[in-house]
Amino acid sequence: MSTGSLLAADLVIAVLAAASWLGGGAASTARRRPLALGLAAFALVATLARAITITALARAGWWFAAEKVLIAAPLSLAAVGVAGPRLLRAPGDIRAVAVPLLFAGYATSSALLVTILHGYPASAGAGLLAVAGVVAATAVSWRALGARPSRSVSRVAVVVAVATLVTGTGLTAAPGAAPGVPHDHGYPQTRIAAEPTKRFTLTAGSATVSASGRDVAAWAFNGQVPGPELTATVGDVLEVTLRNRDIRRGVTLHWHGYDVPNGQDGVPGVTQAAVLPGQEFVYRFRADQVGTYWYHTHSVSDVGVRMGLYGVLVVRPGPVAGLDVTVPVHTLAGRPLPAPTVERVEAGVPVRLRLINTDSTTHRYALAGTPFRVAAIDGVDLRGPTSLVDTAVLIPAGGRYDLVFDAPATPVALFVDGRAVYSTGPVSTATGAWPLLDPLTYGTAAPVPWSGFDRTFTLVLDRGLDLHNLLPRYAHTINGAADPDIPPQVVRLGDVVLFTIVNRSPIVHPWHLHGHHVLVLSRDGEPAAGSPLWLDSFDVRPGEVWKVAFRADNPGVWANHCHNLEHADAGMTLHLMYS
Ligand code: C2O
Ligand code: CU
Repeated sequence: MSTGSLLAADLVIAVLAAASWLGGGAASTARRRPLALGLAAFALVATLARAITITALARAGWWFAAEKVLIAAPLSLAAVGVAGPRLLRAPGDIRAVAVPLLFAGYATSSALLVTILHGYPASAGAGLLAVAGVVAATAVSWRALGARPSRSVSRVAVVVAVATLVTGTGLTAAPGAAPGVPHDHGYPQTRIAAEPTKRFTLTAGSATVSASGRDVAAWAFNGQVPGPELTATVGDVLEVTLRNRDIRRGVTLHWHGYDVPNGQDGVPGVTQAAVLPGQEFVYRFRADQVGTYWYHTHSVSDVGVRMGLYGVLVVRPGPVAGLDVTVPVHTLAGRPLPAPTVERVEAGVPVRLRLINTDSTTHRYALAGTPFRVAAIDGVDLRGPTSLVDTAVLIPAGGRYDLVFDAPATPVALFVDGRAVYSTGPVSTATGAWPLLDPLTYGTAAPVPWSGFDRTFTLVLDRGLDLHNLLPRYAHTINGAADPDIPPQVVRLGDVVLFTIVNRSPIVHPWHLHGHHVLVLSRDGEPAAGSPLWLDSFDVRPGEVWKVAFRADNPGVWANHCHNLEHADAGMTLHLMYS
């Protein structure tokens, strides 16, 4: 069983245990004896079953089990210890076990709340809060059911509850280390002085554009979605003037996957101020990396990118022979882009399809009608890519795959999530059942260029309750904290840095570090065995543990975030900072 399914199974069992303890308690107050005993027996079994799931999760990694071992297990033991013996003695009046059953229900429910609302890491504060909740709820039930604890017992219960509540709240709400990320001052002035060889102007503004045959309201660069395709030859110096006509929430340009100098990275509040209506900003950098990239606004990026402020950036090594097609996939107002293209291609012509996922979720791409190779991922050429046939690829949010093939005499079609977006003629192949390519085992391996690490960081991805501007929100968290309260990762120039990224949550998190490509070392303890994978965007699926590394060779302050941009805006962003 994968860790992801184990997490899901454990959650389901925990919910069943809590619900049946509570149900048993309720049934016994209503004197429904068989129902009460049945539910209690079920709860007992479910509670014991968790011993198995929690042990398995702890073996998969302490991150997955910490609060379950430290908080849920003791509370569940207390539940069984209090309710179990009383059930065995099953009194004539079933109402007599109501409070013990309810206590068990409160204990398992509050442990469940710790997992759902607090997650990793387990803290003393969360534990105290959970206990306080159980004590308070039990005391209230006790009184309400007239089982009447002595005055002093209930007084003690109330005092314990209030005291733990106060200390617990204090502990959980205690702010983490000061963020220390420069915001809105002292922006880096890193920009190359060389004379530009390629100039572009991008003007952001609201527009009406056509998306699969319907006019929709969008935010566009130069009136089009996607924005103009920026192309260059390696060595070119690009100068891109960004103007904002009327996007009130501001605009910037971030060069996704392009490891530009920090001052050109386009992160508002970190590398520049957002460009407001009527303002402009000029980006300049040398096109040193060949490959497929994209640009997008980074100001309220969740809304801005979704509304259409993105485009393609392609840097070629020189003149290309054959056909070179970019396929930036996006969902605009619920409609898929681009519109399907059909073009005739003569047999024998070499074709490169540059697939780009500009959405916040994974897409599945299937190329039918020809064997092909994956020549590059995230702009970086793969080593020894072999020929694939009838194989689909999953591209994470923000990711790019270059597929290459020689056009056969018969038609070829590219399907995205089952929809043909590019073809050279009619193809009717069902691609839904094709196996998926695992890039970690594709191509020829090469040794990892480092033998040790100067810095190691662990990022545990989860959800949790967080105070944002004094308002509670259910944030997407990293190590239990949400942006802007996550301490930055500090490195020195030249350090070799190791990231361990752990997904404890039930949803995919496409990880994206700015300014650097990371080398994939392993996934779930399995070393990467194919071509070296230098990625800037990779999906960390529920229960997965990725180890990736890079050399800190691009000084500045860099965003490091989930590229499901809704998650990024809801807390899942931190910063890598050079000391
Ligand atoms: Cu493509 Cu910070 O993002
Ligand atoms: Cu995410």
